[in-house]
Amino acid sequence: MGGKAIKSPFDVTIYKERRAAILQEMPKNSALLLFAASEKTRNSHTHFRYRQTSDLLYLTGLQEPGSALLLCKHAIKKSSHVFVREKNPAMEQWDGRRLGVKSAARFLGVTESIPIKALEKSLPQLLDGTEFLYFDFGKNHGNDRIVSRVLSSMRSREKRGVVSPTHIVDPRTVIHAQRQIKSSAEIRKMSESAKVAAKAHAIAMSMVEPGMFEYELQAGIEFVFAQSGAAAPAYTSIVGGGANATILHYIENNCKLKNGELVLIDAGCELDGYASDITRTFPVNGKFTPPQKDMYQAVLAAQQASFNQIKVGATLEDVHQAAIRSLCESLIEMGIVKGSVDEAIEKKKYSPYYMHGTSHWLGMDVHDVGPYRVNKTPTKLEAGMVFTVEPGLYFQASQKDVPRELRDHGIRIEDDIVVQKRGYKILTEDAPKTVKEIEAQCRKRPKWN
Ligand code: GLY
Ligand code: MN
Ligand code: MN
Repeated sequence: MGGKAIKSPFDVTIYKERRAAILQEMPKNSALLLFAASEKTRNSHTHFRYRQTSDLLYLTGLQEPGSALLLCKHAIKKSSHVFVREKNPAMEQWDGRRLGVKSAARFLGVTESIPIKALEKSLPQLLDGTEFLYFDFGKNHGNDRIVSRVLSSMRSREKRGVVSPTHIVDPRTVIHAQRQIKSSAEIRKMSESAKVAAKAHAIAMSMVEPGMFEYELQAGIEFVFAQSGAAAPAYTSIVGGGANATILHYIENNCKLKNGELVLIDAGCELDGYASDITRTFPVNGKFTPPQKDMYQAVLAAQQASFNQIKVGATLEDVHQAAIRSLCESLIEMGIVKGSVDEAIEKKKYSPYYMHGTSHWLGMDVHDVGPYRVNKTPTKLEAGMVFTVEPGLYFQASQKDVPRELRDHGIRIEDDIVVQKRGYKILTEDAPKTVKEIEAQCRKRPKWN
C-alpha cells in the first residue's frame, strides 16, 4: 500500500466494478480519458484544500492532483491505465505524500500505471485504433491543449497506419447515469454523512443563545464534522440570523444573533466523498413566537406535501409542484397572497416569497450529476436516486403584504431522501425538525460525544 495518509473510501474491488460497468456501456474501439482536478492557489504560496474531481474519485478513489485515468475498450481487450506523479521525497516533504508509479497499479487495481509526465507521449500509442474518445472538451484549457496535440500527432501519422479517434463524446453520457443511481455501499456512506450533519445541526440548536456570532455556530457545526471523520463541509456553511436568512447564498456568517430572531443554518459535510445537505431554522432564544410558528408550520407542511409525492415513477417536478401548492395555500391563509390557490400558482404569486427549486440530486457533489430532464421530459424517480427536499419562505422588510413581525424572516427546511423500491427513506431524520423537537433541543446543553 502507499504512504500512511493515502487511502481510498472504498475497497479496490468497488472501483474495479465501477470501471467495468462504464466500459460495458462504451462502444467497441473507444477510450475514456479523465484528468485530475488542478490545485487552486488561494493567495501567495497557499492553496485551497485539494478536492479531486468527482468522476475520477468515483472511478479510482485516487485523491491526488497531477493524475489521470484512461479506460480503453479495444476490439479484443479492455484495459485501464492511471497516470500519477513519480515519488519525490524532497517535493513530498513540502507538499505531501504521493502514491508513486510503482504502487499505483496494485493500489488502484488497474492494468498499468505510468508517470504523468509521460502522458502526452504515451497517449498516441494507447489510443491507436480508437474510434470514440470520451473526453470532456472545454472544461480545462490545459487538458484541451494536451488532447488537441495528441490528436494532431495521431492524425499526422495516419498515412503510416495510425488510426486516430473520429468522434469526441461527452463522458457524462456514460458516467453520470451510473453515478445517479446509488449502490447500497454508497447509500450507507450517504446515510453516515447525513447522520453526522444531523448531529451537527442538533448541537447548533443546543449551542445557540442571543449575543452569539453566526460564525460561532458555524465553528460548532464544523467541529462535529471533523470530530466524526468528515473531511470538510460539502459546501460553504450558511449561518444567517434574522434578515440574513433571506439571502439564499449568505456565507459571510459574521453577524451577532439577536434575541427574538430565527437563525437559518444550511450545512452538510463530505464524508468519504459523499455530501449531506441539511437546513434547519430555529429561534435564537429557543422559543418560536406564535407568528414565527405559523410561518414555520407553513414550510413544514410544504415539505410534507412534497414527501407525499415521492415514489418510483414520480418526478422532481411533482415534488416541486406539491410544495408550491402547499405554500400558496398557507400564503393565502396568512393573508399575504390574495385570490384562489390555482390563480396563485398560475400567476406565480408565491415567487416573491419562494424563488428557488425544491430539489436537486445529491451524491458526491452537493448538486449532484444526473439529468433533470431527458428530451424535455422530467426524469422519473428510480430506487437508489438521492435528492433534497428544501422548501422555504423568505419575507423581506420591503414586503408590506407580510405581517410586520414576519418581515426580515427566512425559513427553509431541507432533508435528504433516498428513493426505495417501495416509498423512500429520509436520511437526515435525526436532525430535530418539528417545533416541539426544536424547542426541546434548544433547551439541552450541547453534547459533543
Ligand atoms: N446547500 C446548497 C443547497 O441547498 O442547494
Ligand atoms: Mn440543497
Ligand atoms: Mn442546503
